[in-house]
Amino acid sequence: MSTFLYWKEEVYTPVIGFIGGCLSDTGPTMPSGFERVILFSILGLGGFLMLFLMYDKSAPSRICPPEPALPGPYSKRPENRCLSKQPEPEKPLLLLWFWPENRRFDFSDCATFFNIDGCHLTDDRSLYNKADGVLIFHKSIKHDLSNLPPSPRPPFQKWIWYHVESPTNTIRIPGLDNLFNLTLSYREDADVPVRWRLTARKSQGEDFMLPKKDKLVCWIVSNKDPATGTEVRDNYYRELAKHIKVELFGKAYARFLKYEDYYSTLSSCKFYLSFENSVHKDYITEKLNGPLAAGTVPVVLGPPRQNYEDFVPGDSFIHINDFPDAKALAEFLLKLDKDDEAYLRYFQWRRNFSAQEHLIQPSQEFIQSICYGCDHVGKHKEYRVVHNLYKWYFV
Ligand SMILES: *[C@@H]1O[C@H](CO)[C@@H](O)[C@H](O)[C@H]1NC(C)=O
Ligand SMILES: *[C@@H]1O[C@H](CO)[C@@H](O)[C@H](O)[C@H]1NC(C)=O
Repeated sequence: MSTFLYWKEEVYTPVIGFIGGCLSDTGPTMPSGFERVILFSILGLGGFLMLFLMYDKSAPSRICPPEPALPGPYSKRPENRCLSKQPEPEKPLLLLWFWPENRRFDFSDCATFFNIDGCHLTDDRSLYNKADGVLIFHKSIKHDLSNLPPSPRPPFQKWIWYHVESPTNTIRIPGLDNLFNLTLSYREDADVPVRWRLTARKSQGEDFMLPKKDKLVCWIVSNKDPATGTEVRDNYYRELAKHIKVELFGKAYARFLKYEDYYSTLSSCKFYLSFENSVHKDYITEKLNGPLAAGTVPVVLGPPRQNYEDFVPGDSFIHINDFPDAKALAEFLLKLDKDDEAYLRYFQWRRNFSAQEHLIQPSQEFIQSICYGCDHVGKHKEYRVVHNLYKWYFV
């Protein structure tokens, strides 16, 4: 017997045996000898072929994830990509030129957390000449631009300006005009806008269970450095605290909260102060997403209500500008505390949308934005030049 036949037998014996068994049960006569070998081989091969075809047919649905929920007005998340294994399409190469604030993570997190697998991410600068995109973190650029990637730039290569701070907290490094091809920012009109969005529910959600509350108003604040623009919110907080008790957590108030306690602490508060450090269009951060995900009503300080409503339903939050002053807001919150029916109306949006918990570990801070950059270069081939970066950014 040749090795080939031997190998064949080893592998297909169960199939042949099974078919043979059926035949001998039902067939009146058994073919013998050589004929039997031939017949069984044909049946075996046929069975194998059938199994193979079945596997092949079911393979795509096994590899492709199901279609995501229909995108709603607030959910502009990157679409799921079909992770087809064969033939492997050539994925664009995206080079991360600086690790933002040295917060490193495993690039496979993009697939894990966001189902993003549309580019090949690398931090290996020796691949510079091959990179289709280079992601350049604004805060890491030296003032004399000496640590930017080298010239000449490969003609097909796109440089992405990567910055997620507000203008108040942005250093104007000179010489950045006509240098980049794409922008990645919290701004909705960036080429790659980044934020935590609500997702539209496909069907009406299950009944919402309000988490147990033992605190009225909470605020986690790590930064009260006035140089970062926090004066507005600090003043508002001081005025508010004269009229209502606010539970403070965070570095700024020496009551450090463990990361694993973040969501449970938020859940235990009726209201949460989602006060941005500075007020700019679209600058609505995870400070809003946190309470929405935790089942708490955000009280927002930031851009006007209309801008919030671009992203979340108008009845999911309370805006400080809805009141003439902090005292009136405090009175309203105290009134809601006694009116369960009115309070629960702030959770009605949950029937149609859901909020997902954002990543909170410091090491995870830049995962979402970098992954979104990857998703973008995997899907878009358009080229452009960002002529006047700051004129756009510092509106
Ligand atoms: C990207 O921008 C640079 C600098 O302005 C420009 O020279 C280059 O043509 C652009 N590249 C692409 C691929 O559009
Ligand atoms: C949810 O969506 C349905 C239609 O699908 C609509 O009738 C209803 O008003 C929405 N509810 C909320 C709270 O937005």
